[in-house]
Amino acid sequence: MKAINKLRILVLFWMLPAIAIASEGGVHLDKAPINLKDTAALQRGAKLFTTRCLACHSASYMRYNRLRDIGMGEAQIKKELELPEDVKLGSTMQAAMDASAAKLAFGVAPPDLSVIARSRSADWLYTYMRTFYAAPDRASGWDNLAFPSVGMPHALADLQGELKLQVETHEGHTTRKLVLDKPGSLQPAEYDAAIADLTNYLVFMSDPSKLVRPGLGYLVLGFLAVLLVLAYALKKEIWKDVH
Ligand code: HEC
Repeated sequence: MKAINKLRILVLFWMLPAIAIASEGGVHLDKAPINLKDTAALQRGAKLFTTRCLACHSASYMRYNRLRDIGMGEAQIKKELELPEDVKLGSTMQAAMDASAAKLAFGVAPPDLSVIARSRSADWLYTYMRTFYAAPDRASGWDNLAFPSVGMPHALADLQGELKLQVETHEGHTTRKLVLDKPGSLQPAEYDAAIADLTNYLVFMSDPSKLVRPGLGYLVLGFLAVLLVLAYALKKEIWKDVH
């Protein structure tokens, strides 16, 4: 009897990943083209993030001056990110909108996005930002394939335009696809590239020291190698007279 219970628990654990995947809403995730060495892309992503997303979301673990890690100078940070005069470069990224006011407006408070790439994954974010579609029956007017019944309106609709959901049934199979209904200011390929930059930035932000860590590793290994040579020379020197 006990053995059977153990077996049940084991089977449940085996199935856990499958259950977790199923609860993601069943949408196919597109692969995000992440390249943390591409500083130009990271800078474009940072600009899109600070000018568009900070209206509602915060990134409380991220300081503006940390953007130096992706090659931005102080003047550039102030100018390109359109920071208000009173914002100091050493301060963390705070939402323009008050959290309780946002909750009232959208039904849910917009979560902090500092480490969102770790909780959601780059591919999920890349898909999410490209699968908003018009849903006139919803309060916000929008829904999303990756996040059904999302409380967030499509913040980049002016760039992407408006997508419409098309549901087709063929021999018992339903396919859901999004088609461009009203074009935005960017071509679809340009919009995908902009979201790739934004996702790249979100991945950088969720672990900024990732950029310096490999270099630091080599430095430590180099130091240990030098130490090894010195220690060996010292050992020889000390034992010279004994042998
Ligand atoms: C008008 C306000 C507003 C703007 C602007 C906005 N968001 Fe949101 N966002 C929200 C709200 C509200 C939610 C919570 C949705 C929910 O839980 O149903 C949300 C949720 C999210 C989520 C899902 C978080 C999670 O895992 O639950 C992500 C990712 C996100 N936003 C990214 C962005 C990005 C990137 C931008 C900038 C391009 C942006 N948002 C701009 C209001 C906004």
